[in-house]
Amino acid sequence: VDQHEAIAAPLTFTTSVDGISAAALDGGFFDGWAAPPSTIEHLALLQASSHVALAVHSGRVVGFANALSDGVLSAYIPLLEVLPPYRGQGTGTQLVRMLLDAVGHLYMVDVMCDDDVLPFYEAVGFQRGGGVVRRNYAWRSAP
Ligand SMILES: CC(C)(COP(=O)(O)OP(=O)(O)OC[C@H]1O[C@@H](n2cnc3c(N)ncnc32)[C@H](O)[C@@H]1OP(=O)(O)O)[C@@H](O)C(=O)NCCC(=O)NCCS
Repeated sequence: VDQHEAIAAPLTFTTSVDGISAAALDGGFFDGWAAPPSTIEHLALLQASSHVALAVHSGRVVGFANALSDGVLSAYIPLLEVLPPYRGQGTGTQLVRMLLDAVGHLYMVDVMCDDDVLPFYEAVGFQRGGGVVRRNYAWRSAP
């Protein structure tokens, strides 16, 4: 794909990780993480998720979200990220909508996120609620 084709290529969306390579995830996800997962780990977590939503541009993943669901009552959305050049164009909203198409009928769909992202989720139908988290911040940090 030459550069002009790449710029002109449309953004496509998929709910399948089939055909996605680790290299296609090499755009700089997990921004701000001290020890981000490798692209191989990123691919593994997508493959192990019950549902995924991917935004793809010229064969590269530029946005992703995943859900973990029991398929009966509950789903959790642990991760959502759109690469900076692709933000502010509705891509994040579209990824969440694709997950909700799959799990939105369930009794509960939960997200924990930073306060600044709460309005984003409210705009796609979530309500604020309480929560607790447990994080191993030291996990994987460099010695
Ligand atoms: C949150 C995120 C996925 C949104 O992606 P996006 O493609 O820009 O989303 P959209 O274009 O659909 O944005 C929808 C609205 O949310 C708002 N929004 C998104 N992120 C926001 C933030 N951090 N703070 C305030 N508003 C935010 C946008 O301004 C936009 O509002 P508008 O339509 O009134 O202009 C993206 O900003 C991102 O990857 N952030 C870093 C990772 C992160 O915080 N993920 C959430 C973890 S739970």
